Amino acid sequence: MIFIVLLFTVSILAYVYVQWRYSYWKRLGVPCPEPLFFFGNVLETITMSSHIALLCEKWYNEYSNVPYSGYYKILNPAVNLRDPDLIKDVLIKDHFNFHVNEQDFNKKYDPLMAHNPFVATHDSWRKGRSVLTPLLTLFKVRTLYPLVKDSCDKLSNYLKTIPQNKDIEAKALASRFATQNVIRCSFSIDSQCFTDKKSEFRDMGKKIFQPTFWGGIKLMMMSICPILRDVIPFAFVPADVDEWFQGLVRQLREERKHSPLQQEDLFQMLLNSVEKYDINDIELAGYSLTLFVEGYETSSSVLGFAIYEMARNPDIQERLYEEISDVLAKYDGEFTFEALQEMEYLDNVIHETMRLNVVAPLISKVCTKEYTLPLIEGQKEPVTLHPGTPIQICARALHMDPKHYPEPEVFDPNRFNEEERRNRHKAVYLPFGEGPRMCTGIKFAMAQTKAGLASIVRDFKINVSPKQKPFVMDIRAFLYQARDGLYVNFTPRTGVAQ
Ligand code: HEM
Repeated sequence: MIFIVLLFTVSILAYVYVQWRYSYWKRLGVPCPEPLFFFGNVLETITMSSHIALLCEKWYNEYSNVPYSGYYKILNPAVNLRDPDLIKDVLIKDHFNFHVNEQDFNKKYDPLMAHNPFVATHDSWRKGRSVLTPLLTLFKVRTLYPLVKDSCDKLSNYLKTIPQNKDIEAKALASRFATQNVIRCSFSIDSQCFTDKKSEFRDMGKKIFQPTFWGGIKLMMMSICPILRDVIPFAFVPADVDEWFQGLVRQLREERKHSPLQQEDLFQMLLNSVEKYDINDIELAGYSLTLFVEGYETSSSVLGFAIYEMARNPDIQERLYEEISDVLAKYDGEFTFEALQEMEYLDNVIHETMRLNVVAPLISKVCTKEYTLPLIEGQKEPVTLHPGTPIQICARALHMDPKHYPEPEVFDPNRFNEEERRNRHKAVYLPFGEGPRMCTGIKFAMAQTKAGLASIVRDFKINVSPKQKPFVMDIRAFLYQARDGLYVNFTPRTGVAQ
């Protein structure tokens, strides 16, 4: 009997507590979708029927008259930003109040990933960023360009071996290219992505990023309840990949003591900075893994989408082909770094691809220091956020907002001509984030993506495959990608031997 009374009392108290938590935004006069008991507003992510980015996009569109809205991650109040000025402040001017990314990993289970600046915090983040930034400047990317060009030649030669009209999944093709290129530029290793059907590097990359049912559940749980990372032994990078990578780094380091390189690669640049930054073995392996993890998956997603967009938009593809031909004619047909830099329309095509298909659709930060938000109409006083509050910036919603991009569903590279770029608010285009935590690899990413696309369009016409299904986002994946693939086929242009 006592047990029943106790259970009843605890249930009542728990109910009252949860209801009180769920009145938080209402009490502060912040619009918020109606929370569901215990699940808050994230039930669809728990049942894997939606992605948190899609929910944030929905709320962005629903609460269109306010600079921000609230929602509940289980019991935790969280914020979904909307106003570009506020977003700019959070990412740039007031970055210090939000300097931690929400995605965090437990160092015990993810010893290498923990040194990736994207997930590292405080001094560990500062150190990682200081080490990696000088490796990825435009000047360094230029010195690596002969290796990028070699990867492009391999891509083009591979396509020449594919029978005409054979259906190919664009993201898988782009992954082969990006893995080949990143491994070559990082470690001077030919990962045989276009020759060997079982490339070790491709397998390792797939193990990290291939969406699986359990992987999706773990990611979802970590995103709605980050505290679980200390309880569940969840590693973003599987233990065998971690060990394999540490072994690779040890072996390369040893080899380089005896045989100097012909062309300096990213790993050598890292080794050269070991003393300057006092980098230990785990950090060295962690930074090397960062080059691999950050370098290939995002770029291959962008390149995969760019290939697909060219197939869907043949007129734009033809205009791009003309630009490539005209510029290459000036360089005697040589695909030099300078030639690539001169292809403005190509640059616009990649930017428009990243607008319409933003691979990191949600930028998730955590408030680290009290912060006062702008007043919402009808509020008596502005809301002050407390440390620990999650903040979402839905890049996808901003990119698809007709106020910033008329007819947002239309693929139009002219949105990125000089004048349009100049006149647009800085915070409504966020494929690489913005501010002090912005992507460090932009120059490298743009060079490899542009070079990959240009070398395909120079030699082939890209067509949508009859196999292609309507686009649906894969809600199990960490990044924005197609659930059913992006199928295309290739027709050689005149003069290209197959
Ligand atoms: C097209 C390809 C790429 C896209 C779309 C992309 C996008 C992003 C985004 C959205 C962020 C998070 C920004 C934020 O938290 O505010 C990020 C962070 C980062 N990216 Fe990239 N990235 C790409 C390629 C690369 C490459 C090639 C590298 C390096 C080889 C790289 C290295 C990093 C690093 C180290 C961070 C963490 C920065 C920090 O938190 O300080 N990325 N990237």
